[in-house]
Amino acid sequence: MKKKIAVLPGDGIGPEVIEQAIKVLDAIGDRFNHQFEYCFADVGGVAIDKTGNPLPDETLETCLNTDAVLFGAIGHPKFDNDPSLKVRPEQGLLRMRKELGLFANIRPVTTYKKLLHLSPLKEDKVAGVDLVIYRELTSGIYFGERGTSENSAFDTCFYTVEEIERIAHAAFQAAMKRRKILTLVDKANVLDTSRLWRSRVQKMAAEYPEVTLNFMYVDNAAMQLIQYPKQFDVVLTSNMFGDILSDEASVLTGSMGLLPSASIGLKTSVFEPIHGSFPQAAGEDVANPMAAILSAAMMLDEFGLQKEARIIRTTIKHVLEKGIGTPELNARITLSCSQVGDMLAHLIAEDISLDIGEDRLAEKISTII
Ligand code: IPM
Ligand code: MN
Repeated sequence: MKKKIAVLPGDGIGPEVIEQAIKVLDAIGDRFNHQFEYCFADVGGVAIDKTGNPLPDETLETCLNTDAVLFGAIGHPKFDNDPSLKVRPEQGLLRMRKELGLFANIRPVTTYKKLLHLSPLKEDKVAGVDLVIYRELTSGIYFGERGTSENSAFDTCFYTVEEIERIAHAAFQAAMKRRKILTLVDKANVLDTSRLWRSRVQKMAAEYPEVTLNFMYVDNAAMQLIQYPKQFDVVLTSNMFGDILSDEASVLTGSMGLLPSASIGLKTSVFEPIHGSFPQAAGEDVANPMAAILSAAMMLDEFGLQKEARIIRTTIKHVLEKGIGTPELNARITLSCSQVGDMLAHLIAEDISLDIGEDRLAEKISTII
């Protein structure tokens, strides 16, 4: 297979984790005879510094002319804490979402046995958690009418039936492939938009008779995610609620550095680790590249390369089970960001397993990286 991929490394640790994802994609390419062509472009703070625009037109062009976008992270402290700034990295992200029609943001939350002790929750609460959030990404209060006058300001939450139904279909379809439980999270006791979501989603449920549909108010969902996260399979929600709940969900499993995301578009889809730019660690070669690598795996799924995607996921799982990881995981064998990339690429390209005694593991790794 031949695919053209737009690569937008962005700010902070974005470039270093994306570099590792590319190593792994190339390993997949070598082993399975696929050709991935990369088209690099600027986004976020680096793009502002170079052009004054967080999403330059050439970058958008590149995204529109490729099969997928691999995105690092955006954001830098110099743009934070100054509400008077007219140009900020986030504007690039929001414009990209709108221009590419990225209506569904998908964030899977997976647990890894070896890392359960890093969770802020008790291990028995979090063991076996396997959920995915479907967040609407191009409408709602993020994109509604807004305004500011001298002593007031307003933002509007607005949804059309079409916007609700397209993401709801995607979420129902995901539920069909999983445990067949869909939870719509809203605030239907207060908001008209939520009542519209409920009535449309309820009607759509007739097309998916095997899926159990639950409704949950967002305040309760915030609580239930902590108290009993295992109950969730697919969570469907609007833009703002999804923003908040996906951050909450991302810390359940103990390592945010492992969580990927996909934003499915009407044009080109975007694949991005959820950890953000983490500027304190930029250039230190300590960031965990696994979220970026798992985002590349989600991209392969989207290309129809399920087997290749699965190989990436199982290799990462295997490496973690062996107690190997970046510093924040407190692993038995600590590697740098680039060493994790080198090792995963090597294991995947050569189809090597690390099934050897623990005493020989460090020695074996040293021959690989
Ligand atoms: C996210 C981020 C963005 C959002 C910000 C950076 C605009 O928090 O991708 O979740 O709020 O959507
Ligand atoms: Mn967010």
